[in-house]
Amino acid sequence: MFVELVRKRRSVREYKSDPVPREMLESCVEAARYAPTACNTQCCRFFIVEGDLKNRIVQECLGEPPVPNRWALQAPVIVVLATARNLVTHRLAAGLKGIRYDLVDSGIAGEHFVLQAVELGLGTCWLGWFKKKRLKKLLDIPAGWDVPAMITVGFPLNEPGDKDIKPVDGAVEYRR
Ligand SMILES: Cc1cc2nc3c(=O)[nH]c(=O)nc-3n(C[C@H](O)[C@H](O)[C@H](O)COP(=O)(O)O)c2cc1C
Repeated sequence: MFVELVRKRRSVREYKSDPVPREMLESCVEAARYAPTACNTQCCRFFIVEGDLKNRIVQECLGEPPVPNRWALQAPVIVVLATARNLVTHRLAAGLKGIRYDLVDSGIAGEHFVLQAVELGLGTCWLGWFKKKRLKKLLDIPAGWDVPAMITVGFPLNEPGDKDIKPVDGAVEYRR
C-alpha cells in the first residue's frame, strides 16, 4: 500500500559505504520525471554527484552552523536538485500570482525521487542548508537556474524507526 511506503520514509543520516547502482538512481530519476509541473515545463534537473566532487560539495558547501550537515560525507551519493527556470511560468506567471511554481515543482519531483528510493531499499535525506552560490559554481550550473535542495542517497546503516506525527486535527481544517 502506498501509505506504507510513505510511512517507511525517514531522513537517513548514516549510510553504508556501498555504492548505489546506477540503475537504481536512474529509476529514482524516472519517478521524479513523471511528477507534475506547472504548465508542464518539466523544469527539474538532477545532478548525481559521487566521489571526490561529492566530498568537495560537503566540505565547501555544507558545514555552516546551526545545521552543519557534515554527516553527508558518509552518503555515497548527493543529488543536486536544480530547476531550469522558464521565463513565462517561473518569472512572469510566478510574479503575477506570487507563487514560486519552480519550488512547488521541484518539491514534488524531489519527493517522487525519494519515495522511489525507499521502494528500492535506499535511504535519503533532503538538504536545504548549504552555500548555494558555491554549489552552483562547483557544478557549473547556469546562472538562471535555481538550486532549491540537495538529497543524500545511500543504503541506510540502520533500520529507520517509526515517525511520530502530530494529530491530524492540527493539520486539516474542513470548510464549506
Ligand atoms: C526542504 C527540506 C530541507 C531539509 N534540510 C535539512 C538539512 O539541511 N539537514 C538535515 O539534516 N535535514 C534536513 N531536512 C530533513 C528534516 O529535518 C526532516 O525531514 C524532518 O526532521 C522530519 O524527519 P523525517 O524526514 O525523518 O520524517 C530537510 C527536509 C526538507 C523537506
